[in-house]
Amino acid sequence: MSKQPIGIFDSGVGGTSIWKEIHLLLPHENTIYLADSANAPYGTKSKEAIVNLSIKNTAYLINQGCKIIVVACNTATTNAIHILRQNYNIPIIGIEPAIKPAALNTQTKCVGILATKGTLSSELFHKTTDLFANNITVIERIGEGIVELIETGQLYSEAMKVLLKSYLKPMLDANIDYLVLGCTHYPYLMPLLLELLPQHVKIIDSGEAVARQTKAVLEKNGLLNTQTIKGKTAFYTNANPAIMASLLDNKFDVEYLNF
Ligand code: DGL
Repeated sequence: MSKQPIGIFDSGVGGTSIWKEIHLLLPHENTIYLADSANAPYGTKSKEAIVNLSIKNTAYLINQGCKIIVVACNTATTNAIHILRQNYNIPIIGIEPAIKPAALNTQTKCVGILATKGTLSSELFHKTTDLFANNITVIERIGEGIVELIETGQLYSEAMKVLLKSYLKPMLDANIDYLVLGCTHYPYLMPLLLELLPQHVKIIDSGEAVARQTKAVLEKNGLLNTQTIKGKTAFYTNANPAIMASLLDNKFDVEYLNF
């Protein structure tokens, strides 16, 4: 079982930012990554639609023999992880916005969060925010349009800059010192964010924490791959493979798959 792959999925190409963290920490693990880009974005869909798509992706990965599933999508995690865990009996890791570390460390008592509508309106997000951030101000902004631009290869476009500036303005006006990236597509915005944000604003995401959690859960379940050769990787998308390959610096093959 330990040689079986780690299955990772996202609504699209963004979860590759999480795959990178996992591959860095666990280079000997075999991995399968599914980008459901044909159905992106998830963030504007109903909870029911997000649950159904998450079940479809998880079932596909489990049929491929995956030993653990990483839901590399905040929107799918916050809307569907409890149902996935009810339906399947292998470990399932999720990703949630890193509100806790931002709330614990803010000096200005004001943090910003950029995420999808689906994440910001979820019960899980509200619970986490109430628990860890009830004594600070949280400026929430829906990153409308960002995922669509990344999915269509327009990461470094003028349109992206215009969107980001408008989402960051109310946060900067409110004096945030932390910006939480609550969507796995957003780490790819880092160069633009560094350009647009003053230096004292720290940007955090949950990628590294998810990789550490994946390792811990594999260890606990005796599922760590003990091979010493580099793990095999498989990247599948049901949309344009070239866009995903470019986010992987064209170092990996990406295959089209109608799943
Ligand atoms: N990467 C997904 C997330 O983390 C994007 C959601 C979407 O497709 O809208 O939420």
